[in-house]
Amino acid sequence: MRKIIIANWKMNPSTLDQSLKLAKSIGFDSRVVICPPFPYLNQLKNLGVSIGAQDSFWEREGAFTGEVSPVMLKKIGCKYIIIGHSERRWVLSETNDIINKKIKACLAEGLKVIFCIGEKEEERKRGKEFDVLKSQIKEGLKGILIDDYSKIVIAYEPVWAIGTGNACSPDEAEEMRVFIKKMFGDLAVLYGGSVNALNAGDYIDKASFDGLLIGGASLKTVEFKSILKKIKL
Ligand code: PGA
Repeated sequence: MRKIIIANWKMNPSTLDQSLKLAKSIGFDSRVVICPPFPYLNQLKNLGVSIGAQDSFWEREGAFTGEVSPVMLKKIGCKYIIIGHSERRWVLSETNDIINKKIKACLAEGLKVIFCIGEKEEERKRGKEFDVLKSQIKEGLKGILIDDYSKIVIAYEPVWAIGTGNACSPDEAEEMRVFIKKMFGDLAVLYGGSVNALNAGDYIDKASFDGLLIGGASLKTVEFKSILKKIKL
């Protein structure tokens, strides 16, 4: 299976110019999907970049101030939508129920979903990491037909590893990947959380992830390019 590399730019960079420069400096690698802030999507798409969004609302249109619908994202050329990122779960209080509605809405528009799951540090310390994943998956995918699973990519991102420099070891990550695969069979599973040029290859070669979701390192051209070099295919 061809590897999937999601570059999650989060709320960066601060100008459109910088975002175009960054995309150009990375070059055009067909494995990479850049998920920039909403205002940059259109211009990046016009540049020829493969784009995804960092979130979507669940309704198609209407009186929902500040929200962006899956219909709009589809029309603008997004292929993938990240749903349930831990920053949305824990900073913006998104529940499994909200995430479930968003996933359903994106699938209904024919968008592919990067469904993020992962345990917090104290949950791992209490040995609850498998239970947490199980309930995030069960509730997040409630009512979704098995036929639609092929349009979902799971991103395992332990909360304690995101943006901390404290990446999950490939062995621990592999344990979680195997657990997720047991629940889902053939679904693609990505790893995310403090991926850098030194550890990236391990998640693909030692642990057998199908790709990576990269935050901080995707904003640094040299680092990101050297990550891409480490990932064969
Ligand atoms: P990070 O972010 O690579 O900076 O840890 C990962 C993510 O966006 O989830």
